[in-house]
Amino acid sequence: MKVLVVGGGGREHALAWKAAQSERVERVYVAPGNAGTAREPRLENVAIQSTDIHALARFAARRRIDLTIIGAEAPLVMGVVEVFAERGLRCLGPTRAAAQLEGSKIFAKDFLTRHAIPTAPYRTFTELDAALSALSAAEYPLVIKADGLAAGKGVLIAENRRQAAAALTDMLARKRYGAAGSRVLVEQFVRGEEVSFIALVDGKTILPMASSQDHKAAYDGDRGPNTGGMGAYSPAPIVNEAMHAQIMQRVMRPTVQGMAAEGMPYSGFLYAGLMIGDDGIPQVLEFNCRCGDPETQPIMLRLRSDLVAHCMAAVEGNLVSQRAHWDVRCALGVVMAADGYPGECRVGDWIHGLADSAVQQDDAAHKIFHAGTGIQDGKIVVSGGRVVCATACADNVHAAQQAAYQLAKQLSWQGCWYRADIGHRAIKRELAEQPVAAPLSSARVPASKVRFTDSLCC
Ligand code: GLY
Repeated sequence: MKVLVVGGGGREHALAWKAAQSERVERVYVAPGNAGTAREPRLENVAIQSTDIHALARFAARRRIDLTIIGAEAPLVMGVVEVFAERGLRCLGPTRAAAQLEGSKIFAKDFLTRHAIPTAPYRTFTELDAALSALSAAEYPLVIKADGLAAGKGVLIAENRRQAAAALTDMLARKRYGAAGSRVLVEQFVRGEEVSFIALVDGKTILPMASSQDHKAAYDGDRGPNTGGMGAYSPAPIVNEAMHAQIMQRVMRPTVQGMAAEGMPYSGFLYAGLMIGDDGIPQVLEFNCRCGDPETQPIMLRLRSDLVAHCMAAVEGNLVSQRAHWDVRCALGVVMAADGYPGECRVGDWIHGLADSAVQQDDAAHKIFHAGTGIQDGKIVVSGGRVVCATACADNVHAAQQAAYQLAKQLSWQGCWYRADIGHRAIKRELAEQPVAAPLSSARVPASKVRFTDSLCC
């Protein structure tokens, strides 16, 4: 089989790396890929941008690609699945109509309300005057969101009326996010613990992936500006069996059934960004119509079953035949960023340490997933904001954190930085549950002792 993975980030490196491990796969193409995917065995980069959906379809037809996996949301919202379908090509992802769950935040909130799926109260506006008038009666903080895709930047938390007015003026009057901000959503802020719940869906059946947690704030202690995600781990301890069942019952099943009932059956990866408050109810913050980045990196490090088999079954409407197997250990990924990220960042610097043996080890428990990397004069250089994700698997989150940071320390470039506390919430839980006499161990578990857990279709 030949597989095409579309995108060039850490998520796509992880998906392509895992797809290449499938016994049925002879080659995985990555468009456009990065320096990491260029170096992997059985992977080959293709110089096509992920939003050039017609060029992607022509390539897939010419090379007789059996399965295309779309990494990021933009091509899905543009209708890549339909463009592939016109040529009879298998492409995993929702149709353009179903991708509105991510492409329009107002569509998603209205959908959630129609189907009584828990989410924060909200109002929508297209006129600045009406939006400003509504602020006097509001409770703060408020969340102000541009309706459309804004490269992860169209969400602001306003602590008071002045900040809310500035954000609304920026979107509705100054058109800071262009057409994406011509409609805005004003939503009540929800407190709690954030969880990423990602599943494969085939229109009716749901195959949950392992749970995970992201760290969106730039700096330690969850402070600073929002980023695409500075690190993640899997599983998320807050998603115990009871919470998993609740998420499936209150969020995932009603969403998949609701989309089918409204004539937009959902197929592909569905990512629910959830907030679990003190009442223990999972509230939907947002939907994404793709896997998370960087959540995918630790999730793929834990996946022991055949990703390609799962994805093929999803495209063919046969997910019910699948069962995903997970390494029971925890995986944790630390995103290493370029100087200036999440703003304008410094690129072109040579990345040192990639050839070191500790970084090269590919023992299913350690992996450097590349994102913003390129090749210049035969050297691997920084080419984007989130550069690599140092990912490791171990017995518990604390041990996985230590292993991931050990991996990260092998690499350096001018202005390289990363958070020092990825996993802090889960580690606090581990410490609270751990007797003092049995400190958290970073010892590696021999491969023969690795146990697995399953996720079943629902
Ligand atoms: N890590 C957040 C996202 O992928 O949207």
